[in-house]
Amino acid sequence: MRPPEITTRARRRDPVQVVAVTGGKGGVGKSTLSINLAVASAAAGRRAVLLDGDLGLANADVLLGITPRHTLADLITGHRTLDEVLTPVRPGLGIVAGASGLLPLAELDEAGHVGIVRAFSDLTADLDLLLVDTAAGISPGVLQLTQAAQHVVVVVCDDPASVTDAYAVIKILSRHHGLRHFRVVSNMTQEPQQGARLFDALQRVTERFLDVTLEHSADIPSDELLRRAVREQRPVVEAFPGSPAAQAVRRLAGEMTAWSAPEGRGNIGFFAERLARPAPRLQVVR
Ligand SMILES: Nc1ncnc2c1ncn2[C@@H]1O[C@H](COP(=O)(O)OP(=O)(O)O)[C@@H](O)[C@H]1O
Ligand SMILES: [Mg+2]
Repeated sequence: MRPPEITTRARRRDPVQVVAVTGGKGGVGKSTLSINLAVASAAAGRRAVLLDGDLGLANADVLLGITPRHTLADLITGHRTLDEVLTPVRPGLGIVAGASGLLPLAELDEAGHVGIVRAFSDLTADLDLLLVDTAAGISPGVLQLTQAAQHVVVVVCDDPASVTDAYAVIKILSRHHGLRHFRVVSNMTQEPQQGARLFDALQRVTERFLDVTLEHSADIPSDELLRRAVREQRPVVEAFPGSPAAQAVRRLAGEMTAWSAPEGRGNIGFFAERLARPAPRLQVVR
């Protein structure tokens, strides 16, 4: 297995695409989607890094059967090198464990800010895609990671709490962080129309109360083969490439390559700067 090729930044041509996967509620499938998107993207020839921003629960490491020994925090503080922090998992795909010790990033001092910017320019040299899997909830750490991304994917499933939580995330990211565009992925749907209904429900409330646009980017069916793949600690796109869930994820991974960055959010420098910037103080969270 080779790590993603890291060469000098001078060779970079295209900006790195930064996609955060979030959704508020735990168990809606954020980590599973992130990992499978990362694996599918790498298989399609993109150089990708998955940043596992959810250390609280067994996640990317468990789902891929690997255990990173160091975290992004070690890179930012300069205690570890990029090679030590970036675990190669597939040709063209590396994983970096997020850093619970680092969050909330709002409390970082000047050196920490510089460290973040430097760490990300190292990390993303000659990379095509940085996928950020976030934890459940709307903690400052989750928001900090998500608001810095170019594209925010909000995962929802057919559960009132999931829609409510997705709405809460979108509300905070739009009101406090200026994000306007969100991509919704309906997951674990039981029938073809369910994803569209879920999306419509979410869109109705956001249209009414928020100044945002939503796009229904994918619908991933509930798939027993995906569950089996999780139990076997394998990405479903590899374990059961013909399964309905794997097909839906691959399609999304393909479409992602055509997503254009919103105005002014085009590069990794932007992501690092936003990440390092102190978050606005949140008053009302609901
Ligand atoms: N499309 C799907 N079909 C069936 N089960 C799914 C699907 N997506 C996720 N799951 C199940 O939900 C569980 C929780 O998913 P996970 O990605 O860990 O959620 P989150 O990261 O949002 O907390 C997975 O272990 C898997 O069993
Ligand atoms: Mg998760």
